[in-house]
Amino acid sequence: MRTGESFYITTPIYYPSDVPHIGHGYTTVAVDALARWHRQAGDDTWMLTGTDEHGQKMLRAAAANGATPQEWVDRLVAESWHPVLKELDVANDDFIRTTQARHEERVQKFVQAIYDRGYIYAGEFEALYCVGCEEFKTESEIVDGTGPFEGLKVCAIHSKPLELLQEKNYFFKLSEFQDKLLDLYKTDFVRPESARNEVVSFVKQGLKDLSISRSTFDWGIKVPWDESHVIYVWVDALLNYVTAVGYGSDPEEFARRWPAYHVVGKDILRFHAVIWPAMLMAAGVEVPRGVFAHGWLLVGGEKMSKSKLTGIAPTEITDVFGSDAYRFYFLSAIAFGQDGSFSWEDLSARYQAELANGFGNLASRTTAMIDRYFEGIVPPAGEDTDAERHIHKTVADAATAADAAIERFRIDEAITAIWTIVDALNLYITENEPWALAKDDARRERLGTVLYTAAEGLRALAVLLSPVMPIATEKLWIALGAGDTLGHLADQPIREAGRWGILPAGAAVNALAPLFPRVEQSA
Ligand code: ME8
Ligand code: MG
Repeated sequence: MRTGESFYITTPIYYPSDVPHIGHGYTTVAVDALARWHRQAGDDTWMLTGTDEHGQKMLRAAAANGATPQEWVDRLVAESWHPVLKELDVANDDFIRTTQARHEERVQKFVQAIYDRGYIYAGEFEALYCVGCEEFKTESEIVDGTGPFEGLKVCAIHSKPLELLQEKNYFFKLSEFQDKLLDLYKTDFVRPESARNEVVSFVKQGLKDLSISRSTFDWGIKVPWDESHVIYVWVDALLNYVTAVGYGSDPEEFARRWPAYHVVGKDILRFHAVIWPAMLMAAGVEVPRGVFAHGWLLVGGEKMSKSKLTGIAPTEITDVFGSDAYRFYFLSAIAFGQDGSFSWEDLSARYQAELANGFGNLASRTTAMIDRYFEGIVPPAGEDTDAERHIHKTVADAATAADAAIERFRIDEAITAIWTIVDALNLYITENEPWALAKDDARRERLGTVLYTAAEGLRALAVLLSPVMPIATEKLWIALGAGDTLGHLADQPIREAGRWGILPAGAAVNALAPLFPRVEQSA
């Protein structure tokens, strides 16, 4: 993309019926890393996250806890959903809650607009509903219950009984959009390819009109022309992406930000790739730039979830390994778009091998040797040999490949590309043995070249890895003395990170405590 263009990216807005788990954290840090990359590239970046607070699921969670729904969501958002962003070092630009007045007013405007344009009608309806999904289920999504639910029809995702709902509802003419949607899928609107194929075959089976209101409870936004109904929670929720950037109230802001890229788990792909663009088409609003669906975190082979009691809180990981390791682990170990299994063994093994021994050790030994052999001043490089030229090329190629991978939303591939620098520099130091060069005064210039090359390679690593590991890279930046000469790390243009020779010789390095200290395993 061209530097300076608008880049608006969103996470799903999560249900705060319960506390966040590492699945929610996964999507959020992925979006944060993409946003940080674009921000650092100079793009006009905006990252949105938030909470989806209406609907029956919330109503029931509140009732089960003896609270009103508003009390319940206020508490969960303040005590858990805002804090988790800090715990994971997420630099979101906005946080939308669907109970905010700005959202409620703009949702009513939007729904009124598609009503006025003739896309909504009143009708009768009877179908099986899953409160866990907040969705009516079709035959293929329903399975026979087992255990306590033997003999009942249950949701294939939640394994909980479905409820028969029979209501007079308002319907959205989703069925009218089949052809337009199929045209949209000819572009790279839905990624990755596997997600696009799933959506295409779903839409080719034919679309039914969508029930978009409820009248049996009132925890929601009122239908503007019929206050005995509230708007279906998914319609309310999807609209957050436009209400947060001024739809219907701030045309300048809206024109500046919209359209967005949406990153979601594959569980909610259809809502984003089918219903959402159809709603926008009905309103005459531009469709999103794209929808990227990532896979599921599996724990013990199952999709991790609170309702199945496999949920792990992000702090269980960050308290032991730190937020950088959390971000690095999930973003590098799982191909973005595919499922991935979480295990503590895999996390600790990668922490030790890649972060502590790989990147951390490279940073410590380079700064320690500059300290010891050059009184803490980055030496100038003398004449380059093939070994240096190989490092220069590795850095340049890695930076280009990483930016290209980020354009495809493949954060994992970007990290793999950047890691070629870590591996090349560790090998370079081992092969060039600066500790041996240091014993021979005649080889002082060569020693300077080797240590400059290592330090300048670390400069590139700090810049390229800062979207993924903002804390460790900031420490490294300070240790390299780069802050004094080059300014803030966050201001370093990431698309130029691969250019060689940016760190000036003469910078004063500072002591560096281990970036990834040994962790004591209690489990
Ligand atoms: O669906 N693996 O909210 P939600 C990976 N409010 N990601 C996971 C995950 C797992 N095991 N579990 C959850 C909702 N996620 C709606 C969204 S948007 C307009 C409304 C992540 O709290 C993933 O991003 O159930 C998934 O799509 C999302 O959390 C679902 O969060
Ligand atoms: Mg869910």
